[in-house]
Amino acid sequence: MTDPAAEPSALENLLSEDRRFPPAPEFVAQANAHRDLYAWAAADRVGFWADQARELITWQTPFTQTLDWSNAPFATWFADGTLNACDNAVDRHVRAGHGDRVALYFEGEPGDTRTITYADLQREVSRAANALQALGVTTGDRVALYMPLIPEAVVAMLACARIGAPHSVVFGGFSAEALHSRILDAEAKLVVTADGGYRRGNPTSLKPAVDEALAKGAPTVEHVLVVRRTGQPVDWTEGRDVWWHEAVAAASDEHTPVPVPAEHPLFILYTSGTTGKPKGVLHTTGGYLTQCAYTHLNVFDLKPDTDVYWCTADIGWVTGHSYVVYGPLVNGATQVIYEGTPDTPDRGRWWDVVAKYRVSILYTAPTAIRTCMKWGDDIPAARDLSSLRVLGSVGEPINPEAWTWYRRVIGGDRTPVVDTWWQTETGAIMISPLPGVTEAKPGSAQVPLPGVAAEVVDDDGTPVPNGSGGYLVITEPWPAMLRGIWGDPDRYVDTYWSRFKHLYFAGDGAKKDEDGDIWLLGRVDDVMNVSGHRLSTTEIESALVSHPWVAEAAVVGASDETTGQAVVAFVILRGDSEGLTRTPAEVEAELRAHVATQIGPIAKPRQILVVPELPKTRSGKIMRRLLRDVAEHRAVGDATTLADQSVMDLIAAGLSSPASAAD
Ligand code: PRX
Repeated sequence: MTDPAAEPSALENLLSEDRRFPPAPEFVAQANAHRDLYAWAAADRVGFWADQARELITWQTPFTQTLDWSNAPFATWFADGTLNACDNAVDRHVRAGHGDRVALYFEGEPGDTRTITYADLQREVSRAANALQALGVTTGDRVALYMPLIPEAVVAMLACARIGAPHSVVFGGFSAEALHSRILDAEAKLVVTADGGYRRGNPTSLKPAVDEALAKGAPTVEHVLVVRRTGQPVDWTEGRDVWWHEAVAAASDEHTPVPVPAEHPLFILYTSGTTGKPKGVLHTTGGYLTQCAYTHLNVFDLKPDTDVYWCTADIGWVTGHSYVVYGPLVNGATQVIYEGTPDTPDRGRWWDVVAKYRVSILYTAPTAIRTCMKWGDDIPAARDLSSLRVLGSVGEPINPEAWTWYRRVIGGDRTPVVDTWWQTETGAIMISPLPGVTEAKPGSAQVPLPGVAAEVVDDDGTPVPNGSGGYLVITEPWPAMLRGIWGDPDRYVDTYWSRFKHLYFAGDGAKKDEDGDIWLLGRVDDVMNVSGHRLSTTEIESALVSHPWVAEAAVVGASDETTGQAVVAFVILRGDSEGLTRTPAEVEAELRAHVATQIGPIAKPRQILVVPELPKTRSGKIMRRLLRDVAEHRAVGDATTLADQSVMDLIAAGLSSPASAAD
């Protein structure tokens, strides 16, 4: 592990950021959140969560137990209560008389639109749940989803929740190989997919990757349910494949949600860790929904009857689970979902969407903000963004320049900006300012939310004083915490609970400033963060060495102005490989394509450098720190523990053309 406190010298610049944005009095007057939330939670943290769970969630059987931590680090929350997630997200709003409220405004990339009310959604999820059951899916079965961001994706997730069948959404940008390993690990009974979706003006395909994944062998999969989105031709396996529009249309639009215990699995979501094998992060029902609803209401100041909320995340990531599907729908919000990319048909698309639907709350990632910043102020300036009143950021540290640009250019110098820190594993937001309460500091996620206990500790797990850096830990269990790693309880304990005794270690370095506010400094383990997406160095290294030309590979994350980090790979070619007869550009193209096939285009290295040797310690560990120096064009740091001192010279000599091949 690197020492986070010693790392970025840019940190001192960050911490000297002295712009402050106190909440505007008009905002304070109407804000959902109040300062007394902190006192309430501090007085009785567990009781506070029980109050939230009772207030925000509809229980079939009320719980009498709150937290059970006696088997730490395996927690249960609200364990004797029963509920249904889909009932909370859909049906209860219809029962409360809000059936005519719009749940989803869908904007397809080609410009097609759909408006779906809560009553429509109830009928759709009921049909879909009946169709899933007719295909043999029952409570407890796992369903894999591999879909574009279309209403059917939301409906499919909710239909699974409705029958208590945990879903495992696999990001549509992942390859057949990645999909296959996730289907196998979760032992999915059904795969829901689409013929394709629209991205950057073109139809992309999904069904062929499902066919390819299943052809590799997936004995548990009985059916593939296919949504027709693009109309492109697809291969069809009779008896296995079923059209969504036939199965769902034929099903009844009445369905009773299946109540499940609070600790019943709601979903598995695979994420990258420090080893090559993705981890199936497991979330359960009652605690997860409670924290999603609570954070969504207070961090975004949601007013369900007037706001139009838009989170730009794809449902393939945890943000899409917690802040496209569960948080907003449980709170009865009206939201926009948009299928495509921000630059189609032109770079004003997002701002056209905001203006068209009068979006009032926008939640996106720093990488997108920096991209829009690069495209120029005149693009958003030409649109009416006056409906916006709260802006959120997630996925990676947002630098103060991007933060202030976001507030000034998108938020018209009037909106609060909330920088929200959390993870797939935490399930919901953990550290964030509260709009209407917190005086905002650009670049800092600031303070743990009421009910959350976080600290920055040193190597021994001792809290650091203000003004110092260390490791970010969570010191008390929280309702939306992961309950484990699917099928691998030991890995759960090893990964999160063994670095520090009794503390959840998040993998991030952080610093507390003189006021005690938390600044996130990025990962301190072998995980990279590219455009807010987590990628493991080991996973990409395994993909590279699975190519016949490659003998050894080392991957590092190099800082990148737009994407936060970019993947840079160093490879040693096999002595007898055909690769040696190719030009560096050909080798790079071949290996980048190979990584795309193994994992997905998102994992393609920006740069691949063929080197004669890799720097290693005497015990054989690759010194990634030195490679990072090379990748970031810095003078190479302390190399005294290097087994062979000449290696770095060899690498430097071999780096003739570090041409970027990013796309
Ligand atoms: O390094 C932190 C970074 O993203 C990691 C979690 O990634 P993932 O599980 O994919 O979830 C992303 C969306 C919640 C964290 O360990 N991260 C997330 N949000 C922030 C952040 N880093 C700094 N500031 C944030 N607001």
